[in-house]
Amino acid sequence: MKSMRIKGGAPLRGAVRSQGAKNAALPMMAACLLLKGQRMTLDNVPKLQDVDTMVELLSSLGVSIKQDGSKTIFDVPKTVSHAADEASVRKMRASSLVLGPLLARCGSVVLPLPGGCSIGSRPIDLHLKGLTQMGASVEIKNGRVHASAQQLRGRRIYLDFPSVGATENLMMAAVLAKGETIIENTAREPEIENLAALLRSMGARIDTEGTGYIRVRGMEEVAPCAMRVIPDRIEVCTYILAGVITGGEVTVYDVTLDHIAALLAKLEEAGVSFSVDTNDAGENSVTVYAAKKLSPISIKTMPYPGFPTDMQPQMVATLTLSDGVSLVEESVFQARFLYAAELNRMGANIGIKGDTAVIQGVKSLSGASVQATDLRAGAALILAGLAASGETRVENLEHVMRGYENIDGKLRSLGAEISLEPEE
Ligand code: EPZ
Repeated sequence: MKSMRIKGGAPLRGAVRSQGAKNAALPMMAACLLLKGQRMTLDNVPKLQDVDTMVELLSSLGVSIKQDGSKTIFDVPKTVSHAADEASVRKMRASSLVLGPLLARCGSVVLPLPGGCSIGSRPIDLHLKGLTQMGASVEIKNGRVHASAQQLRGRRIYLDFPSVGATENLMMAAVLAKGETIIENTAREPEIENLAALLRSMGARIDTEGTGYIRVRGMEEVAPCAMRVIPDRIEVCTYILAGVITGGEVTVYDVTLDHIAALLAKLEEAGVSFSVDTNDAGENSVTVYAAKKLSPISIKTMPYPGFPTDMQPQMVATLTLSDGVSLVEESVFQARFLYAAELNRMGANIGIKGDTAVIQGVKSLSGASVQATDLRAGAALILAGLAASGETRVENLEHVMRGYENIDGKLRSLGAEISLEPEE
């Protein structure tokens, strides 16, 4: 596995530009399967390992995908395979997002069940329950989902939890269902709204997304479409915290301010100041300034618009240097504190009590060799390494490369002393 060596301790200064949102691009890429013999064009798709995996998966189903400048072109044939490639699916949980569109257009799908990962069991029971309610027959055999439906039918579906993936799968399936589908208690993440905008650009009659209640009127066939992927709010917040944890001054360009409101509010509470700017093209940027001291705060992760669980590890890493005791409660995933032990090896003082991290601020962190266990945990360890005195080696870097485009190049442009080590 690759690793990253960081010589920490210097304040970061400078500006970076956000990437397209990984968690918007992946469902939008899967949505191309609703097309038959037509083209989808996406702008601002980030260059990431997870995107490559989705390209691999869609290509194995028969879609031809090429890059044209900042645009990614998806040419979808009239018929596609309905059996997803095992290897690509097992690599990435988001592969389950082909379930809804494939079932809606082919009438059947065979998909290996996604595994759990280091942040929890991550079942897809809500996805399958919703599709069953729409008339699909679903069977799990030899670790695969076998789903079939002559014709999906629209109906009212209530999600026991506002699951992002279940909302996305059911929205896409509903586009080709017969009649109207109402999905209640849906996720309200910005990535859902980006997907809804793409589906509308296909001609889908979909509205009220973002309210926790989505209405989709089914149609026979969709049309060629195009959409731009929104900025990646989690990547933006990660670079903002890189400025905070190193006591530097960092600007991030191409930001949607509403999407990072929860983080900015908590930073303000912690005594961090920042400014917001809008250029003549109407593009927003955020600049964060060194704080004299970081006050301790309490956070509970929640579905959007609450504090995002995907920023929990990076925020905990930052709060290890606050001047008091902070509490961070994880309410979305079952086990998203694995990385805390790695931070404690760098001199942090984090105790886990149930689903809450109790973080006693320390004066400084010291470099160490640490292991990334998932994408955001890896980002948290990199942030800690940037602030720590001495050298930090973050191993299992592949996790981080899945979701952060050119992270070493971007951090170097902010003055970080970083080198990548090849596979051992
Ligand atoms: C999406 O995952 C994101 N991934 C995750 O980002 C993010 O952490 C998560 O939403 C929550 O915001 C993508 O969009 C590709 P969920 P998803 O379904 O859809 C439980 C990152 O770092 N659940 O909202 O898998 C589940 O176990 C990744 O970029 C069920 O019980 O998240 C979890 O506890 C990590 N049954 C909770 O709901 C189901 O059928 C939230 O899961 C589905 C989910």
